[in-house]
Amino acid sequence: MHGLGTEAAFEVLARANALRREGRDIINLCIGQPDFPTPEHIVEAGRKALALGHHGYTEANGILPLREAVAADLFRRHGVAVSPERVLIVPGGKVTMFFAILMFGEPGAEIIHPSPGFPVYENVIRFSGATPVPMPLKESNDFSFRAEEVLALITPRTRLLILNSPANPTGGVVPQAELDRLVAGLARHPQVAILSDEIYGELVYDHAFTSLLRYPEIADRLILLDGWSKTYAMTGWRLGYGVWPDSLVRQAERLAINSHSCVNAAAQYAGIAALTGPREPVERMVAAFAARRDAFIPALNALPGISCRLPRGAFYAFPNITATGLDARALQARLLEEAGVATLAGTSFGAMGEGYLRLSYAAGRETLLAAAERIGTWLAGRNAHGET
Ligand SMILES: Cc1ncc(COP(=O)(O)O)c(C=O)c1O
Repeated sequence: MHGLGTEAAFEVLARANALRREGRDIINLCIGQPDFPTPEHIVEAGRKALALGHHGYTEANGILPLREAVAADLFRRHGVAVSPERVLIVPGGKVTMFFAILMFGEPGAEIIHPSPGFPVYENVIRFSGATPVPMPLKESNDFSFRAEEVLALITPRTRLLILNSPANPTGGVVPQAELDRLVAGLARHPQVAILSDEIYGELVYDHAFTSLLRYPEIADRLILLDGWSKTYAMTGWRLGYGVWPDSLVRQAERLAINSHSCVNAAAQYAGIAALTGPREPVERMVAAFAARRDAFIPALNALPGISCRLPRGAFYAFPNITATGLDARALQARLLEEAGVATLAGTSFGAMGEGYLRLSYAAGRETLLAAAERIGTWLAGRNAHGET
């Protein structure tokens, strides 16, 4: 148990809140959640479900109208028909990754994961006893990958390949041509299952997004992870889903029965309203993220020692900070304590995150520009003092 890793975002958040309690003015760009409230019609559906008496257990895999709404939404977005029987509703996006990694991970097995990447992948791979095999996502490649590099990581011990596009922490989006090549190459490795974390799938700006669901040739070994947290600003509702292959869905359901029984009933009704209700709130939020990105990235690039690629999706900037002369953790700590801006060191997302910071731009435009100004003032002060 002592070896189990964590998510640094929650720790930095706690420190930022402690500084705020001391009266310090802290701008928080460290946590990965939309700053918008859940759209009102969704909240109302949850409220109504409680008023109507939906207080008991539901089916372990989720109420049928919700699984049907998920199937219809997947058809709308990806043009792929999925049986609601393959959908497992779970409390948040994380649960699908936890179940998938526990299913495939054991001592001797290898699991390939994106690096830098969401820290939970590597944490749970190690916890399962399996060996994590990092798949490098390079800045020079716009934080995507070349299919042949990924395929070259596969060995006879590889059980699971984890993909995440659009990506946390880099905002990278894998182009369709690369996915085509990857899927073609996977035909030579039928023993490898794929977990595609598409939780940011609707938060893409100027790049088309292709779901792995669109490839029938891997449908019998693809686990799709998605959920409501990011798209509908519902992180606190704890609602997500997996689409599992026929051969695994009942086993995944058993993991659910043995852990959380079912998802909060009222949250499931709210989830139906999210998927079947008006799309404008989501469209407005995505447009706001795009506009903030377009204001924030140039502001970051104007800072001494910082250069930042344009993220294509999600709501994270992942600037290269090597020219500041500080390592990522040192810069994270000093920006928080001395400049009053909470960011996350790239190393919170694996060793390949050294030389980078992650800043969430799920914050108001004024807040983002104020943060850039604080960082700029702090960097300039440091340069003026000849600090290296
Ligand atoms: C890549 C990725 N996958 C999954 C999740 C988990 O989402 P949830 O809050 O729904 O568990 C996150 C949350 O930050 C994420 O960044």
